[in-house]
Amino acid sequence: MTKPAVRVALLGCGTVGAEVVRLLHDQAEDLTARIGAPLEIVGIAVRRIGRDRGDLPVDPSIFTTDALGLIKRDDVDVVIEVVGGIEPARTWLVEALRAGKSVVTANKALLAEDGGALHDAAAEGGADLYYEAAVAGAIPLLRPLRESLHGDRINRVTGIVNGTTNFILSSMDSSGAGFAEALEEATALGYAEADPTADVEGFDAGAKAAILASLAFHTRVTAADVYREGITEVTAADVASARDMGSTIKLLCIAARTVDADGAESVSVRVHPAMIPRSHPLASVGDAYNAVFVEAEAAGQLMFYGRGAGGTPTASAVLGDVVAVSRNRLAGTWAPSESAYAKLAIRPMGDAITRYHVSLDVADRAGVLSQVAGVFAKHDVSIATVRQAGHGDEASLVIVTHTARDAALAATVDELRHLDIVRSIASVLRVEGDD
Ligand code: NDP
Ligand code: HSE
Repeated sequence: MTKPAVRVALLGCGTVGAEVVRLLHDQAEDLTARIGAPLEIVGIAVRRIGRDRGDLPVDPSIFTTDALGLIKRDDVDVVIEVVGGIEPARTWLVEALRAGKSVVTANKALLAEDGGALHDAAAEGGADLYYEAAVAGAIPLLRPLRESLHGDRINRVTGIVNGTTNFILSSMDSSGAGFAEALEEATALGYAEADPTADVEGFDAGAKAAILASLAFHTRVTAADVYREGITEVTAADVASARDMGSTIKLLCIAARTVDADGAESVSVRVHPAMIPRSHPLASVGDAYNAVFVEAEAAGQLMFYGRGAGGTPTASAVLGDVVAVSRNRLAGTWAPSESAYAKLAIRPMGDAITRYHVSLDVADRAGVLSQVAGVFAKHDVSIATVRQAGHGDEASLVIVTHTARDAALAATVDELRHLDIVRSIASVLRVEGDD
């Protein structure tokens, strides 16, 4: 006998929400069989009731602008939040969780800013909080981190988690275009939003990095803990230089466990453009795809790849969560809440271990190379390779270092900037993935 319906309130009916409605309708029979009860959308909260939503397969009378009123209704079991932003989403979800309602959300910004408030409310209300869609869209990634890998110890997560910037960098790599031209193409094709700041300045990837680090290292990590640089300063010359080195440039999110000489553990979390060798598994991730490379002690290296954005792929992840929380409800249970017992310290960016690729223009005369090399040596940064090309009385130098503390590398570059033999520092990029 089929059980009574699991009743769903949908907050938001835009790019993702509308696809949730469609998939839920089109796959109703299968979802009912998988859950053991039908899913019924009892209300949809939006900002503009009168907005044209095409031929959505849903009764128009269930739309409301009163999200909080909808959440509080007695006939709501599960709340799906696909509105985005910090407030009022936080207030809504805390209210729902405290009342014991299951929550499925794709809201990476809120989870990265104040995921703790949601987890606390879930624990208080004895409710499920699922958010697979918040990082890397359709890719099943958070469930493996929060369940499958809980018997292991993750040491590093390296990912391409922003589709827009990956499209731009891939396009710069394949066509030789500059950043502005590639961004224009991304906008024309609908990858980049009208205001692309969150993507190109790395805020979106930073939020995802915080969520990944929290799950991988059992520690609360917020967006404010993440070192962040975007891709707006990456030039066609940088991309060409990377190509000359057999590398490509990607916007990477890197969350790593570090262990001091005295055995104390900490975590560093950063988002920035970096050169990676073309042989690295992430180098071949093109277009607007996402991929995340996880290194765990027992499992070894794992790679997760797929579509990180878009209404339908993201709705797939949302619905997977809806099935999971609905099954839990029917079984009268909920998943273990947040695992943040490790409480690892967050290391500052200056302590991160990385390599630099520095392009600089210098005067071409005797002793210049040794002066430049002396600055690297002074900061205990070892040079791996130097390439020089002369142009009249000037020369271009491309120096790639061995690994060193980021603070030492930054101090080296800062001192180079002040040498009178250095005409300009054309670019400074981190190099990852071939240590
Ligand atoms: P959209 O902007 O397309 O949709 C937002 C929806 O929220 C709209 O239906 C809007 O109403 C509604 N809304 C906005 N403010 C309110 C409010 N105050 N009260 C009630 N409803 C409101 O966003 P997306 O669908 O693209 O994204 C939704 C969430 O999913 C975000 O958290 C985003 O980060 C996340 N996400 C999105 C992905 C994507 O590819 N788009 C991928 C992964 C995650 P109305 O329709 O009336 O304007
Ligand atoms: N703007 C994001 C991206 C959407 O480009 O990846 C998915 O979070």
